[in-house]
Amino acid sequence: MDKLVINGGNPLKGEVTISGAKNAAVALIPATVLIDGICTITNVPNISDVKISCKILEEIGAKVEWISKNELKIDTRNITNTTAPLDMTSKFRASSYFIGSLLGRCKKAVVGLPGGCNLGARPIDQHIKGFESLGAKVEVSQGRISAEATKLEGTHIYLDIVSVGATINVMLASVLADGSTIIENCAKEPHIVDVANFLNTMGADIRGAGTDVIKVKGVKKLTGNSTYSVVPDQIEAGTFMLAAVATKGDLIIKNCIPEHMDCLTAKILEMGAKVEYNDDTIHVSASQRPHKANIKTQPYPGFPTDLQPQIGVCLSIANGTSIIKEGIWESRFQYTAELNKMGAKITDQGKSAIFEGVEKLYGAPVEATDLRAAAALIIAGLVADGETTLTNLAHLDRGYENIEEKFRKIGANIQRISEE
Ligand code: EPZ
Repeated sequence: MDKLVINGGNPLKGEVTISGAKNAAVALIPATVLIDGICTITNVPNISDVKISCKILEEIGAKVEWISKNELKIDTRNITNTTAPLDMTSKFRASSYFIGSLLGRCKKAVVGLPGGCNLGARPIDQHIKGFESLGAKVEVSQGRISAEATKLEGTHIYLDIVSVGATINVMLASVLADGSTIIENCAKEPHIVDVANFLNTMGADIRGAGTDVIKVKGVKKLTGNSTYSVVPDQIEAGTFMLAAVATKGDLIIKNCIPEHMDCLTAKILEMGAKVEYNDDTIHVSASQRPHKANIKTQPYPGFPTDLQPQIGVCLSIANGTSIIKEGIWESRFQYTAELNKMGAKITDQGKSAIFEGVEKLYGAPVEATDLRAAAALIIAGLVADGETTLTNLAHLDRGYENIEEKFRKIGANIQRISEE
């Protein structure tokens, strides 16, 4: 089992380059199932959720080749198997996208119930509502979802909840359907726009991604033969912005889309740090303890739940008391018990938490409770006095590429130790 040993105290300084977005890449890979051809995807984050998505693709008949560390060539001309391996699909959430894409292409899909971070109940009723509305029969039993249709027909779907997963999955299932599909009350995250842009590059006809209403005009075939670059990771960029704030650092964050960060930037300014945008870079610098701030997480363009633990670390050392209200997940404050082991004073009240800012955190052995909690605890280790050891790194490796190397290059004292 690996662990990270972090010795805190160094302000982070220098330049860091952001990778392609995990939550886009894990949707684009299943989306290739809809293509009857070959495509190349660049700026792919080399992380474990991506690798497992590629393995699933191979198991169902695709040829997948890493042509460099961050470039994939995928040949989906011979998709033969409509059952995605159940043990692999149950390891992460985005495996559910194989239902939409297999159903879209083969009119049949069997996929294990998706796993992923434990953030409370993670139902998929809205995905199922969309598939059924397109004409599929869907059954959930014995830990698997089976969907089948003789024909998928364009339809009008109103999603009862703003859901990233359901928006993407229904879009995937409708790309090759007969006629047009209108999806209302869609999520608007950058990775949704990215999936639509990718599919359009490969021959689909999708309009409105990034707004509440997406219109998908069914096409006969996606031919591929194109190259597509994954959008920069909004959450990784935000993680480094917040690491600069917490450590009173000075960071140039490269290869990001500053406009995707507006909501976080507003909060960082409220906390007393400086932010400057310049083309595809963001400069964040902080010279004092963060001011208190209140946060409510919401769907995009609201404050992202996936940056909640990282800003929680900044608020744990802020000047004053702050409140975070979690608007997406039932259980996203598990990391606060770990932060309290480091001297933070946080009271978890279920869907909200009160952060009484302390002057210092102290190094301690802590455990990553989920992916973003892992990133937050690294930031906490970097500001703490003394040594922090972080275990349960499988969460971290699912979603951040080379994270400790990236932190080391900007002055962090952080080492990975492999233990039997
Ligand atoms: C995506 O999860 C992300 N994962 C999550 O990131 C992120 O936290 C979340 O969106 C919100 O931004 C991926 O993209 C792989 P949702 P997803 O469907 O699609 C409820 C990370 O750290 N809901 O938008 O699963 C649901 O319970 C991960 O990278 C239903 O009720 O999230 C939640 O309360 C963690 N029925 C809310 O909607 C449904 O059918 C939003 O979930 C679907 C969702």
